[in-house]
Amino acid sequence: MDPAVLPILACPRCKAEAPFKRIRDSRCSTCGFEPGGTNPHVLDLIDHTAGEPTAANTEQRLMESDLVARIYDRFWRPGFVRLLAGAGAGKAVGGLSGELFIHKHGLSIDDRPGPWLDLSCGPGAFARALAAAAPGALVVGLDISRAMLDIAAQRTGGYTNVVLVRGDAHALPFVDGAFGGVNNAGALHAYDDPELVFREIRRVLRPNGHYVGSTFAEAPTLLGRLAARAAGIRRFEPSELRAWLQRIGFADYEDVRLGGALVFRVRRP
Ligand SMILES: C[S@@+](CC[C@H](N)C(=O)[O-])C[C@H]1O[C@@H](n2cnc3c(N)ncnc32)[C@H](O)[C@@H]1O
Repeated sequence: MDPAVLPILACPRCKAEAPFKRIRDSRCSTCGFEPGGTNPHVLDLIDHTAGEPTAANTEQRLMESDLVARIYDRFWRPGFVRLLAGAGAGKAVGGLSGELFIHKHGLSIDDRPGPWLDLSCGPGAFARALAAAAPGALVVGLDISRAMLDIAAQRTGGYTNVVLVRGDAHALPFVDGAFGGVNNAGALHAYDDPELVFREIRRVLRPNGHYVGSTFAEAPTLLGRLAARAAGIRRFEPSELRAWLQRIGFADYEDVRLGGALVFRVRRP
């Protein structure tokens, strides 16, 4: 695991900056918090004093299953995008390549130094793409699901610039201004409190850093609307998202609609 991550970490319990002297066998030098977990390739920064985090909805319970994590990229994601966003979007973004392209360019990876955060990285497809596009920069993949991170660890093993962290998007374990850009594909609808996550993203971005996200807007089919309701999935209208992000202090909102899917970008001024 790349020790370049150490200076940008913040303790999940006491918020002390750069709390660990090394990756392994280290405790927070201020409060004694000790990273947990059993996977040596994942830095587990969940503070368990308040108990294990609970899944907010049905979709998130599934994201914590080993089986779903294993089949996610190949079957789950494309099927889900097709169902919730329509066949056109399923082809464009469910199969990942089109969406990866939009995210990479939205982050302006070629013009900026990073480090890059792949927030709610799932099994790591975006983290791998970012690591390949920016081989000299640190890429941090963060997710709350152990199952997803276990698969991400297997699949990012060949990239020495990727560090995987278990953490909560509502309380990111990073110092202010840690990242040159934040990627956040297909996860906004899964959060308990998107406002808190937006504020955290703004906090960990450097001035001029881009935040690129994707989520679901209105479903084009009745089946998609019913499926979203059954799974407890929230939808975001572009106008609502633009106003919300502006109120929090982001600028230059832009978006691309692909059927019922939405990819957006904003800048931290
Ligand atoms: C639909 S998946 C998207 C995965 C990946 N970004 C992609 O686009 O393929 C949503 C991810 O958000 C993660 N997630 C949900 N709530 C989270 C939270 N509070 N903090 C961090 N990650 C969270 C889930 O565990 C899951 O891996």
